[in-house]
Amino acid sequence: MGVGRFIALEGIDGSGKSTQAAMLADALEARGHRVVRVREPGGTPLGEAIRGLLLDTPAGSMGAVAEACLFAASRAELVRRVVRPGVADGAWVVCDRFVGSSLAYQGVGRGLGVDVVTDVNRAAVDGCAPDVTVLIDVPVAEAAGRRCAGDDRIEAEGTGFQQRVADGYRAQAEGDARMVVVDGRGSPADVHARVLAAVDAAVASA
Ligand code: ADP
Ligand code: TYD
Repeated sequence: MGVGRFIALEGIDGSGKSTQAAMLADALEARGHRVVRVREPGGTPLGEAIRGLLLDTPAGSMGAVAEACLFAASRAELVRRVVRPGVADGAWVVCDRFVGSSLAYQGVGRGLGVDVVTDVNRAAVDGCAPDVTVLIDVPVAEAAGRRCAGDDRIEAEGTGFQQRVADGYRAQAEGDARMVVVDGRGSPADVHARVLAAVDAAVASA
């Protein structure tokens, strides 16, 4: 059995994370790894139900603290039922968003503060940290142009919110040696090559 890994992708809405998560998972599978693909919020029965509560609801339906707690509850389930067992079993778990999203969106975007959101998430992640987090960096205007119609409650927050989230991500990357920033501009294939190189470098130096 090979060594399991946990890889997270982060970025603002429309940055291309889901596209890159799928391409990365395909590439890792082609190399012979067993890959588990997950997304947040979701990835477990309770997590998917929480996803509905968080995203398919009208603006103003919950406060920022409740929102942070719901994302953390989904994460707690994902860590215990999918991520930890998968890595222990030798799989490479590729996760479209993880706790970095809460630090950027709830901590900075909503203004709760990174320390408060870290506290809210402590028991949820229970020390389970990605081996590497790839931050797909795309200008806010470009990401907004890529998104299709039909934004969910959080995507609909607008440009100012997305800019705060982007700033929150950059600050996070500066303070986290296991977070790698990848230029998300260019074709999906170009970005994929950068993502794969970043993952390879991070795994080689782990
Ligand atoms: P996210 O998961 O970050 O919201 P997606 O991967 O869903 O982003 O991509 C958002 C939209 O942009 C999709 O329509 C997708 O096809 C498109 N897209 C993804 N990557 C690129 C890219 N490198 N250049 C242009 N469009 C892209
Ligand atoms: P999703 O449709 O998965 O967005 P995307 O395709 O852009 O990744 O919706 C997830 C939304 O939830 C997205 O707007 C980011 C937000 N979010 C948070 O605010 N905090 C979190 O902890 C997570 C995981 C997501």
